[in-house]
Amino acid sequence: MARIGIFGAGYVGLVTGACFADLGHDVVIRDILPERIEQLRAGEVPIYEPGLEQVLERNRDRILFTLDVAEAVDGAEFLYVAVGTPPTESGDADLGAVWAVVDELPGEVPGRPVVVMKSTVPVGTGDHVRRRLDDRGLANVGYVSNPEFLAEGSAVRDFMNPDRIVVGAFEQADGDRVVELHAGIDADVVRTDVPSAELVKLAANAFLSTRISFINEIANVCELVGADVADVARGVGLDHRLGPHFLRAGIGFGGSCFPKDVSALKQLAGNSGYPFMLLQAVWEVNELQKKRVVQKLLKHLGTLRGRTVALLGLAFKPNTDDMREAPSRVIAYRLLSEGAEVRAWDPVAHPDDLKGIELCDTVLDAVRGADAAVIVTEWPELRELASEELRDAMARPLIIDGRNLLDPVATRSAGFQYEGIGRPRHASPPEPAPRPSEVAR
Ligand SMILES: NC(=O)c1ccc[n+]([C@@H]2O[C@H](COP(=O)([O-])OP(=O)(O)OC[C@H]3O[C@@H](n4cnc5c(N)ncnc54)[C@H](O)[C@@H]3O)[C@@H](O)[C@H]2O)c1
Repeated sequence: MARIGIFGAGYVGLVTGACFADLGHDVVIRDILPERIEQLRAGEVPIYEPGLEQVLERNRDRILFTLDVAEAVDGAEFLYVAVGTPPTESGDADLGAVWAVVDELPGEVPGRPVVVMKSTVPVGTGDHVRRRLDDRGLANVGYVSNPEFLAEGSAVRDFMNPDRIVVGAFEQADGDRVVELHAGIDADVVRTDVPSAELVKLAANAFLSTRISFINEIANVCELVGADVADVARGVGLDHRLGPHFLRAGIGFGGSCFPKDVSALKQLAGNSGYPFMLLQAVWEVNELQKKRVVQKLLKHLGTLRGRTVALLGLAFKPNTDDMREAPSRVIAYRLLSEGAEVRAWDPVAHPDDLKGIELCDTVLDAVRGADAAVIVTEWPELRELASEELRDAMARPLIIDGRNLLDPVATRSAGFQYEGIGRPRHASPPEPAPRPSEVAR
C-alpha cells in the first residue's frame, strides 16, 4: 500500500483522498485554509457530497489532515494536486494554486515521488511543471497527468467506478505506478502522453457541454414549431450511436467545471492559433438559455417590476451545494434588474453572497404570495410541487419549469399555469412505445 500526499481538500481532493484510503492507502490531505483543516480533523465535512462523510469516517485511521506541506510530502510516493483552477477574466485557467503547490515542495526529496495532476489544466501545463521541477533541482520527482472525471453529487461512486482511468506520463514507469495505485478499481485504463491526457479532460467536458447546448437549441426550435423536446430527446437518444445522456433541455449548464473547461479549451485553441467556433456557439447558447426564463416570465406577467418571483433551487445541479457559475445567479440578478422581488429556496445551498435576494427555509415560504415560481434546480423534492397548498399560497399559480421536472398535463390539471422548456402547451407525457406487433405495416 502506498503513502499519498494530496494538495487541496475540496471536492476532488477530499473524494480522492477518502477513496484511496478506502482502497487501503495512507493519505495525508493538505489545504491552506485553517478552518477547513480544523473542521476535517473534528470529523466535519466542509462540502455537501453524498456518501463522502461515511467514507472519511470509516478510514479515519488512514487519513491525516494538515496545513503543513512537509507533513504531506514526507515519505509520500505520490503527490496529488487537486487545487482549484478557476477561470481568469480572459477565460484562461488560473494556475496560481498549481504553481504554489509546485513551488512549495521542499528543495530536496528522497526517492522518486510522483506529482500527479488531478486538477484540470490547459494542455502544456505538464511540460511547464516538468521544467519548473527540473529548474528547482527536483529532476528525481516524476510527473503524471491523471485527470478526474467525477461529477459532484455522485463523486464517491464515480471515483470508485469510473468509466476510465486516464494516465499520461513522461516516464512509462511513473505511469505504471499510478495505474497500480488504482488496484481494486475495475475500469479501462487509457495510457497516453501528457498533453493527450490533459486534452482528454477538456474535450470530454466540452463535448458534454455541446450536447447540452445542442438540445437546448432543439428545445427553442420545439417552442416555435410545436414539438416536445422531451419526446424528441428520447427519440434521438435511443439511437445507439448517440445515447441518451446529456440530452435534457433546461436553463443551461453551470458549475465549477463545464463553463470553465469550455472557456479554457476555447482559449487554449485560440491562443494556439485555432478559433474553436463550435465552442464559441456552445458558450453563447448557454448564456442566452439562462435568460430565456426571464422572457418567459415577462410573457406571462407583462412586467417584472414589483412582482415577486420564487427561485426553487440555487445549486447548479441537485445533490450538491456548489454555487459556482450556477445559472441561478444570472437569473436572480436579471430578475432584480427588471425590478422584481426575488426569493429563493434550496435544501443545501445557502449562499451568503446573493445580495438583495431573500433566502427562505421552505418551498412554501418562498412561494407564499409570489407571482411566479421558477424551478432552477431539479431537486427531487420539487417533483411534488404542484400541490393544492402551494397553489393556494401563491398570488398567481404560475410555474416556469426550467428543468422540465414536472408533468405539464398534471401540473395544469392541478390548477397551475405551467411552462417548461421546449414543451409547447399541448404537450402530454410520452406514450409508451408500441410493441413491434402493434406497429402498422
Ligand atoms: N468539482 C468537480 O466536480 C471536479 C471534477 C473534475 C475535476 N475537477 C477539477 O479539479 C480541481 C479541483 O476542483 P475542486 O472542485 O475540488 O476545487 P475546490 O475549490 O473545491 O478545492 C480546491 C482546494 O484547494 C485548496 N488549495 C488552494 N491552494 C492550495 C495549496 N497551495 N495547497 C493545498 N491546497 C490548496 C483550496 O483551499 C480548496 O480547498 C479543479 O481543477 C477542477 O477543475 C473538479
